[in-house]
Amino acid sequence: MFTLKELQDLINNAISNEKIGREPFSLYDPINYTLESGGKRIRPALALMACNLFTDNINPAIKPALGLEIFHNFTLLHDDIMDHAGIRRGKPTVHKKWNENTAILSGDAMFIKAYEYLLDCRSPNFRDILKVFNETALEVCEGQQYDMEFETRESVSEDDYLRMIELKTSVLLAASLKIGAMIGGADNADAELLYKFGKNIGLAFQLQDDLLDVYGDINVFGKKPGGDIVANKKTLMLIKALELAANDELKTLKNLLSDKNIDSEKKITAVTEIYNKLNIKSIVEEQIKRLNADAVRFLESVSVNENKKGELIKLAEKLTNRIN
Ligand code: IPE
Ligand code: IPE
Ligand code: MG
Ligand code: MG
Ligand code: MG
Repeated sequence: MFTLKELQDLINNAISNEKIGREPFSLYDPINYTLESGGKRIRPALALMACNLFTDNINPAIKPALGLEIFHNFTLLHDDIMDHAGIRRGKPTVHKKWNENTAILSGDAMFIKAYEYLLDCRSPNFRDILKVFNETALEVCEGQQYDMEFETRESVSEDDYLRMIELKTSVLLAASLKIGAMIGGADNADAELLYKFGKNIGLAFQLQDDLLDVYGDINVFGKKPGGDIVANKKTLMLIKALELAANDELKTLKNLLSDKNIDSEKKITAVTEIYNKLNIKSIVEEQIKRLNADAVRFLESVSVNENKKGELIKLAEKLTNRIN
């Protein structure tokens, strides 16, 4: 079985070999910049690991896996515009280093490139694979739309939040696993179980991302913490805080959310203080553990030998404790 590290190296090598050297450079430079700026390569790794559960020959899944990574990177370019984010993977975001129009158009080109790589899939079930991908890409847009709408919506429930992150984040992890499994020759039942495994690790993954957006170290996380607080993102942390805060504390929190003139750093400090008082971090950490346990149960039911599942279980575990 391939280890996570081996797969990450394989993906990184493939990406550096695929550098786009074509004019206009102002369109392609930001693409190369993004793809080569690191990143954990979780989605292609999941695709290759899922494929590897069913076959030793993961080669047919490599190009489609790269397609999934390129698609993910494309969503980041547009997401960073939407979230006014200036730093990603420890570097200036594309819309800061270049400009917004460049980030939009280079992003569009990446979306097309993603299809080009997926098309390299020679599986007989290619049409089904493409359907999974298309549905997923549309769902990511839906999730991103909810994410933005929730910024200005006053009441967002925990269920609303979970549905939103399922769409914006989980489905892509889930689809990566499913597509990898389909290329590897899995039957429908196993492909579906892996999809559900991915859905649950995806939810845990976004919860952890939201935690890191408050408590992460910029030098490790690679993104500037506090952006979610500044934008009034309805994270589970904020939803829980609004639920648990009482009296003056609730008033203060609501005032912080509605104050349009407050200094960003002051807002981040004040909201974080409330989270700390209410123990929000451990509440969310508990939920992450539960989701991870749910995920593993789906993986356990996949009909391949238990000793093949070790890497995926390790990866799921690793993601719940991640610091970047
Ligand atoms: C960031 O994804 C966007 C989210 C869904 C939270 P990753 O944390 O996988 O980003 P990279 O690719 O490793 O930089
Ligand atoms: C990202 O959610 C989801 C997608 C990019 C589709 P976030 O907005 O939380 O991701 P980061 O924190 O910017 O990576
Ligand atoms: Mg976002
Ligand atoms: Mg963002
Ligand atoms: Mg985030």
